[in-house]
Amino acid sequence: MTEPPAPPSVPRGRLRVRRATRADLPVVLDLRLAFDRELLGGDLPPDRVGPHRSQVADYLATHVDGEAYRLWVAEDGGRIVGMGGLVVVDRPPHARSRRSAEGFIVNVYTLPTWRGRGVGRVVMDALVADARTLRLRRVYLRTSDAGRALYEEMGFRDPGNYLSLDLD
Ligand SMILES: CC(C)(COP(=O)(O)OP(=O)(O)OC[C@H]1O[C@@H](n2cnc3c(N)ncnc32)[C@H](O)[C@@H]1OP(=O)(O)O)[C@@H](O)C(=O)NCCC(=O)NCCS
Repeated sequence: MTEPPAPPSVPRGRLRVRRATRADLPVVLDLRLAFDRELLGGDLPPDRVGPHRSQVADYLATHVDGEAYRLWVAEDGGRIVGMGGLVVVDRPPHARSRRSAEGFIVNVYTLPTWRGRGVGRVVMDALVADARTLRLRRVYLRTSDAGRALYEEMGFRDPGNYLSLDLD
């Protein structure tokens, strides 16, 4: 993907954040694959590139208009420069809360030349606002080193009691 140079700074009011639509999917797919390359630290093995691209494209096409996966994008001057997703997890009711559903935040990504200008923050604010509107009980995410400061500044904390088991 060729990236035109970013402006030196992006006033927060100029960034527009909105739910992604089906028309955004080609751009969003490129952003998501760039996210994967960056977090993997390189390209997938050649035989995985095509299948992975189709799997992601299928997922986005199936879920973009739905309620359980909510993809948000940030635009600067009509160009999508960042994105993030909220996956709603409808778990059984909790003893200490009347709210049962939770949100898993995934694939928060800003084009490299737009970083440090508040794009990630406006996307995250939109995801959390969406979760509040849905009256989710909490949102959680798996952080990268790059995202940690942003998330901690917003109040995300390690609860210390979440364990995970990789099954693949
Ligand atoms: C993590 C990531 C999404 C952050 O995106 P970003 O657009 O750079 O985020 P922001 O600009 O909102 O905030 C990043 C930093 O810029 C600072 N910043 C925020 N608004 C700013 C502004 N208007 N001007 C200058 N700096 C600003 C923030 O304080 C933050 O600084 P810090 O890291 O020292 O706390 C981005 O680095 C990225 O896409 N990384 C690769 C993918 C990834 O790791 N995603 C997270 C895993 S889920």
